[in-house]
Amino acid sequence: MKVELYKATDQHANMPDYKTAKDNFSWEEIEKEFSWYESGKVNMAYEAIDKHVDEGHGDKIALHYKLDDDIQSFTFKEMKENSNKAANLLKNAGVKKGDRVFIFMARSPELYFALLGALKIGAIVGPLFEAFMEKAVRDRMENSDASTIVTTPELLPRVPVDELPHLENVIVSGDDVDEKYISYKKEFEKASTEFDIEWLDKEDGLILHYTSGSTGQPKGVLHAQYAMVQQYISGKYVLDLKEDDVYWCTADPGWVTGTSYGIFAPWLNRATNVIVGGRFSPESWYGALEELKVTVWYSAPTAFRMLMGSSDNVVEKYDLSALRHVLSVGEPLNPEVVKWGMEVFNLRIHDTWWMTETGAHMIVNFPSMDIKGGSMGKPLPGVEATIIDDQGNELPPNRMGNLAMKSGWPAMMREIYKNKPKYDSYFIGDWYISGDSAYMDEDGYFWFQGRVDDVIMTAGERVGPFEIESKLVEHEAVQEAGVIGKPDPVRGEIVKAFIALRDGYEPTDELKEEIRVFVKNGLAAHAAPREIEFKDSLPKTRSGKIMRRVLKAWELDLPAGDLSSMDDD
Ligand code: PRX
Repeated sequence: MKVELYKATDQHANMPDYKTAKDNFSWEEIEKEFSWYESGKVNMAYEAIDKHVDEGHGDKIALHYKLDDDIQSFTFKEMKENSNKAANLLKNAGVKKGDRVFIFMARSPELYFALLGALKIGAIVGPLFEAFMEKAVRDRMENSDASTIVTTPELLPRVPVDELPHLENVIVSGDDVDEKYISYKKEFEKASTEFDIEWLDKEDGLILHYTSGSTGQPKGVLHAQYAMVQQYISGKYVLDLKEDDVYWCTADPGWVTGTSYGIFAPWLNRATNVIVGGRFSPESWYGALEELKVTVWYSAPTAFRMLMGSSDNVVEKYDLSALRHVLSVGEPLNPEVVKWGMEVFNLRIHDTWWMTETGAHMIVNFPSMDIKGGSMGKPLPGVEATIIDDQGNELPPNRMGNLAMKSGWPAMMREIYKNKPKYDSYFIGDWYISGDSAYMDEDGYFWFQGRVDDVIMTAGERVGPFEIESKLVEHEAVQEAGVIGKPDPVRGEIVKAFIALRDGYEPTDELKEEIRVFVKNGLAAHAAPREIEFKDSLPKTRSGKIMRRVLKAWELDLPAGDLSSMDDD
């Protein structure tokens, strides 16, 4: 296929060129830009919010929160005071440094106050996506022995409060809060706007994001305070954030993009950050870009494809002239989408590649670089990436293999929570193995090829087949279940389940729907299989493990490969 080349434009003329940035790069030099460099004592919430007030920018708008036709705006000073109130509220409840504090709320200013407040105490924040249902919430809170959850009356029923032995505080927003719980609103109103921040070591915990692999329960990926060095510099270089920018990252803070680039990177760079509540529609999204005069926009291929598919050029009704830089993450950015971006925004869409585990950008279309349509770009300055074979040998250009990075970048995960063997399994020697396959071309551009494991990427969200299979077999009609990602033109992949029923159950469409709703209500909407196919039995290894590889081959009409270890009865 012919590769389209999109030349760098003077739109990013003030950016260093890639080679200069790379050749002169050292993490040590970036560290010196932080106020904690001399003392060694740090706190993300201070660097992101309070510092800007101390440095005379208290009146600058930090946050525009838009929900339908309503916009609430907060200055850095107001963010400082509100997060201090939240910190006092949590401290009064007994929350201490190192405690795991979960935040389970729909996007709202309160969510951001609570999150920053928890960080000011030195707690480790566990953000939960608002679509999670009880099992997803329970698995995460149980694994991390969470002491506290901050939630809303709507989401509270999904928190198994009586079954989590380590849970001490349930803090609920809204007006009529049951006396058993702490009222966020009442305590917040009473709380002082002054707070003494807990000063931390740069290796102390920051945030715990759960993410899916192909086997086992979701893994708790723990990041340290020190991640800020990379989040800051990638915000500056890759997002190209400047003093006057209005920046919108569309990801929910339940996922890593919504924290690293929805909270930390923009505020470390003192940008005005935009949060849009409510559901996606082309009108509401274009409306937000227009009304808030967004200049830098970070979103995902599925969203771009949904906008692309919207009828009658909805985009023409909006004035998007403020927009100057658009970026993408989470799934392969198809060359057609880059082309569409040029047509509708007259801007290049800059792909970025990274993962929950990497904590920040790793491979990027640096703003001053030529873009090859369909390529993820080149390593962030300071990051060493390569392609290696399964033994850990580096491969020459244009050979497909494991996308790997040299350990030691600042935002790298520090732990898989309580699971050292799992953490160790990511590495071959010094190389961190991403689980993606890719190749590097002769110019040093990286090209994504696929996941090496069975992880499903649907609409930019990473779902583990095991988690869904475990939920499916809880349904009374399901004997066994195997789940795969089926290619889909809009969502990248959709979740497809193959199910063998227990004796006595009929394979009807009603039952399919019932099973789908069962997963949706028990786990999360995005994890519910969009397609279900009943089979008499599923292909298994001798040890009883369902062979998803064979299911995928069935689905795609491919040869199934080596079946020698399959069950023969
Ligand atoms: O397969 C890659 C895909 O998303 C995975 C990481 O998922 P998660 O931890 O949920 O983080 C998503 C956003 C940081 C990767 O292993 N992925 C991420 N970015 C890209 C991508 N695939 C192709 N192109 C990308 N730019």
